[in-house]
Amino acid sequence: MALPLMSLVSDDSRYQKSFQLFLERSSEHQCMRDFIHSRLPDILASIGDGKSNLNVIGVGSGAGEIDLEMLSELHLKHPGVTVDNEVVEPSSQQLHNYKVLVSQKQDLDYLKFTWNKMTASEFEQHWKAKKMTKKADFIHMVQMLYYVKDPGATITFFHSLLNKNGKLLIILVSGESGWGKLWRTYREQLCNTEISQCVTTGDIKSFLDSKGVSYQSYELPSQLDITECFTEGDEKGELLLDFLTEVLDFSKTASPELKAGVLELLQHPSSSVKSNGRVIFNNNLGVIVLDQLC
Ligand SMILES: C[S@@+](CC[C@H](N)C(=O)[O-])C[C@H]1O[C@@H](n2cnc3c(N)ncnc32)[C@H](O)[C@@H]1O
Repeated sequence: MALPLMSLVSDDSRYQKSFQLFLERSSEHQCMRDFIHSRLPDILASIGDGKSNLNVIGVGSGAGEIDLEMLSELHLKHPGVTVDNEVVEPSSQQLHNYKVLVSQKQDLDYLKFTWNKMTASEFEQHWKAKKMTKKADFIHMVQMLYYVKDPGATITFFHSLLNKNGKLLIILVSGESGWGKLWRTYREQLCNTEISQCVTTGDIKSFLDSKGVSYQSYELPSQLDITECFTEGDEKGELLLDFLTEVLDFSKTASPELKAGVLELLQHPSSSVKSNGRVIFNNNLGVIVLDQLC
């Protein structure tokens, strides 16, 4: 009999291992870097209103690779300006990795880090309990809204922290990606936990539209090589399957019907293309940028 499905995020060590493998097998960070160096500079140009210090909040920063790339573009756009950077990240392993990365970089003197080892909702509680009045010029949530109980409420809270001319940047998988197809088909089976939501930029746009909040959006083409997922018992294939389904030990705990259905969908032409004997999953991302509410 199939065991109850557990969320992958309940096991941080396996989650981080599978995320690392996902990064190795995908163009995820490369497509973000392309966006950061081509489009982000213009988005960041207007923030700060001429101040000599900017406040930044990174939510779900992971090991900080993408955060530091964004901060470097911010510095190029606003040279001579100091930056207070609040990092909100619940994984001690990832916070450690981020600190190591910072220690290896030079020319970060303009940055002051505050490390918050907590979830987005713990940060919200802490902020409210301390009656903080500080506002932020740039807030980003890169690939993290899947892990909050209520993505809409999380956006609303962080949006309310924006300063005049501030920007909130959200990156998630695109509604048009293979992930969107997977989650639309298996939402009931895969996404019914409190700590893992199958949310795409399509869902966030619907939420913002329903609230009458305007935004800019961008699509980032990206690919993920999932070939190993189709070799029974392949250790890396199983790790990737865990990441794709957000289920801990998916291959061992999912029912045979669910497993067969997911594997079929993953290689269906609506989710993947076959190229040189590899199965390449559509990992397209979406970016949403919100301005301060007037
Ligand atoms: C997919 S990773 C993305 C990391 C990084 N932003 C990147 O794109 O490389 C998701 C990150 O969100 C963190 N996370 C999980 N639950 C969270 C929560 N409730 N609030 C904030 N961050 C969370 C995880 O520890 C992980 O570092």
